[in-house]
Amino acid sequence: MNTVLEIKNLVKFYPNVEAVNGVSFAIEKGTCFGLLGPNGAGKTTTIEVIEGIIPRTSGDILYKGKKRDARFREEVGIQFQNTELPAFLTVKETLETFRNLYGRKSNLNELIETCYLQDLLKQDNRKISGGQKQRLLLAMALANDPELIFLDEPTTGLDPQSRRHLWDIVHHIKSRKKTVVLTTHYMEEAQVLCDTIAIMDYGKIIASGPPEKLLEEQCSAIAVGLNEHIDEKILGMIPGSWVMTKTGVEIYPEDLNDCIKKLIDMNIDLSTLTIRPQNLEDLFLKLTGKRLRA
Ligand SMILES: Nc1ncnc2c1ncn2[C@@H]1O[C@H](COP(=O)(O)OP(=O)(O)OP(=O)(O)O)[C@@H](O)[C@H]1O
Ligand SMILES: [Mg+2]
Repeated sequence: MNTVLEIKNLVKFYPNVEAVNGVSFAIEKGTCFGLLGPNGAGKTTTIEVIEGIIPRTSGDILYKGKKRDARFREEVGIQFQNTELPAFLTVKETLETFRNLYGRKSNLNELIETCYLQDLLKQDNRKISGGQKQRLLLAMALANDPELIFLDEPTTGLDPQSRRHLWDIVHHIKSRKKTVVLTTHYMEEAQVLCDTIAIMDYGKIIASGPPEKLLEEQCSAIAVGLNEHIDEKILGMIPGSWVMTKTGVEIYPEDLNDCIKKLIDMNIDLSTLTIRPQNLEDLFLKLTGKRLRA
């Protein structure tokens, strides 16, 4: 194993908020690590402390087994959750300016092609769309041909084509044995891209591992869907949980056979029954609950 990043008991307290409260994980070279969690869970704070953008309260951060130094700054690429681009510069000028800050540089034409910026080069930064800005920010994060890339919600607000395009870029980065740390609110994205995920809530990691393994360990295997509105009293008799949907109900039973038997006993029409495996979104809601965060 070749550990690129090792985080031990990381803590970041603000005066009134324990934003990160004892987070530990390790990331292997050439893998994609995903931090998931509700709004305010502490994802951005965690990665910005690791990046060295904000100071930590305590804990250890090791890059390739050593404390971060000038080499770390030279070898990482960062796409922030929110970034203001300089006004009065074109996309090409922005990219060139940013690239010139580094000793080690990506090939400019490859960067433009990878991030699909060819048609935007002469455009003023103030006149690009949200999705186009995301592509430019990604190109800026890759400008120094980084070994370790941090992407904080890189696909928020993107259309489905652009999102899949970013997935292709991440696969391409990984195929070159580079390491990616990303945050996302899209569970499908985490499942497609991440070798390991950590689910954070209230500043702590509450579950971590390969997505498939977490699903196997933490979720009962199935959900039962019915296009029937069923009385809550009946649902209350089935061990597990459930949610109402637009056309009926979805049940997450502890025991599938018992659930179906109870539905038959109650004379529920099962002609619209569907059974599907549980997914990462089900697991996320199970672990973090359904209440909105302050
Ligand atoms: N500069 C700051 N001063 C005080 N509190 C802060 C500061 N930055 C963040 N926080 C608080 O720390 C907590 C974690 O915030 P953080 O931005 O890390 O969450 P997040 O998981 O990235 O959320 P989101 O999904 O909304 O991006 C929140 O309660 C937030 O209000
Ligand atoms: Mg954030």
